[in-house]
Amino acid sequence: MNNGKGINPLHAAHPMGEKHAVTVQLNGSTRYGACEPRELLSDFIRHELGATGTHVGCEHGVCGACTVHVDGVACRSCLMLAVQADGRRIDTVEGLAAGNALGDLQQAFRRHHALQCGFCTAGILMSCADYLQRVPDPTEAQIREMLSGHICRCTGYTPIVQAVLEAASLRRAQRDALEVSHA
Ligand code: FES
Ligand code: FES
Repeated sequence: MNNGKGINPLHAAHPMGEKHAVTVQLNGSTRYGACEPRELLSDFIRHELGATGTHVGCEHGVCGACTVHVDGVACRSCLMLAVQADGRRIDTVEGLAAGNALGDLQQAFRRHHALQCGFCTAGILMSCADYLQRVPDPTEAQIREMLSGHICRCTGYTPIVQAVLEAASLRRAQRDALEVSHA
């Protein structure tokens, strides 16, 4: 597909339909790939695009490990076909960092030891990132409800909740400081 960023060269490589050419904006870069018609987006991201930060657990929408953003909205990549992502923006945990520096949410997770084995972490970070965009000042109860869509077998969730509360609080302080400086 030509999405204004270029034509996927894999169209020519797979003309007979056994594979579909897919073009996505992955963490801000145009990426081309090809997939089987029933290939999951989670497998496409990991195996075709090499973005292995996204993890795959249950593969049926329960654990949340595979959560990415599609056009800015958190979504379980194991519940979406790769062909459905053609022409869309995909953001994964690799895109949360600012260059070599961890993003603010990642830093809060590190400060609060909000991960142990880390298997669930990429998906939880992506859900939290989306949630804080929509609900910038959440209560602990709201965060716990949001996290109920994720399974973490290590942390007991409390450090994750604390990390999200702290990230929200720091963002709020930054917003307040900006407003004062522009007043
Ligand atoms: S792997 Fe997608 S929700 Fe579990
Ligand atoms: S840190 Fe191990 S599953 Fe969450």
